[in-house]
Amino acid sequence: MASMKHRDSLSVMNLFNEIAPRYNNLNDLLSFGLHRLWKKRLLKLLNPSLGEKWLDLCCGTGDMSIALARLVGTQGSVLGVDFSFKQLELAEKRSSIHSIESISWMQADILENGLPSNSFDGAVMAYGLRNLIDPEEGFKEIRRLLKPSARAGILDFNHTIDGSLSSSFQKCYLRKIVVPTASILGLKAQYSYLEESLKTFPVGSVQEKMAMKVGFHKAKYKTIAAGQMGILLLS
Ligand SMILES: C[S@@+](CC[C@H](N)C(=O)[O-])C[C@H]1O[C@@H](n2cnc3c(N)ncnc32)[C@H](O)[C@@H]1O
Repeated sequence: MASMKHRDSLSVMNLFNEIAPRYNNLNDLLSFGLHRLWKKRLLKLLNPSLGEKWLDLCCGTGDMSIALARLVGTQGSVLGVDFSFKQLELAEKRSSIHSIESISWMQADILENGLPSNSFDGAVMAYGLRNLIDPEEGFKEIRRLLKPSARAGILDFNHTIDGSLSSSFQKCYLRKIVVPTASILGLKAQYSYLEESLKTFPVGSVQEKMAMKVGFHKAKYKTIAAGQMGILLLS
C-alpha cells in the first residue's frame, strides 16, 4: 500500500482493523438494519448501468461493491478500495461466497491511491468521507478518478445543527444506544470515535461547496432518515 500521508490515518486504519470482525453485525444492530435501505437509496439515485466501471471508495466489508457488481453485470466492473486489510479480507470472502467475479479489491489510502485519472463511470463512498483526514482532498481524488461525464454519490451521517431536534436525537442515539452497545462487545473507544468524527465533519452545504471547488459541475446534498443521514450527489 502507498505510504500514508498523515499519521492520523494510521489510527483510523487501526480502528477499522480492530472492529472488522464485528463490523457487519454491529452495523445491522445499531441501525436496526436501516443502513441497507440507505445504501440502496444511494444506488437508486445513481442508477449504475450494465457494463459500467464503478469505484467503491472506503469499501469496508464490501456492501456497496457487491450491490454495484450486481447492477453493472459481468461486462462491467467494480473496484473496492480501503486501507484496512482486515475489512478487505472480509470483503473478499463475501464476494467469493456470492461468486461475484467482476469486483477487484485494492488496499490503499483513498488520498494516495495511485489509480489512473479519468477512469471510472461512477463512484460511491458510504460512511467514508467523515473518516478522511481532509474531505476536500477526498473530493479532489474522486473528481480526478472519474471520467468527465461520470457521477458520484456519498452517503454518511448528517452533521446536524446544534440545538436542533435532529441534533438532540443524534447525540442521544450515539450516547445512549451506540456507545453502550459497542461497550458490551468491548469496542467502547472505537465507537465513541463516531461522535468525535462528526464534530469536524462539514455540513451538507459546505460539502457542496468543496465539491464544486474541486471541479464538479453539480453538487446536491439531501438529508434522509429524518435528518440523521445525508446523501451528496455529484456530477
Ligand atoms: C465506516 S466504514 C464504511 C465501510 C463501508 N463503506 C460501509 O458502508 O459499510 C469506513 C471505512 O473507510 C475506510 N477508510 C477510512 N479512511 C480511509 C482512507 N483514507 N483510505 C482508505 N480507506 C479508508 C476504513 O478502513 C473503513 O473500512
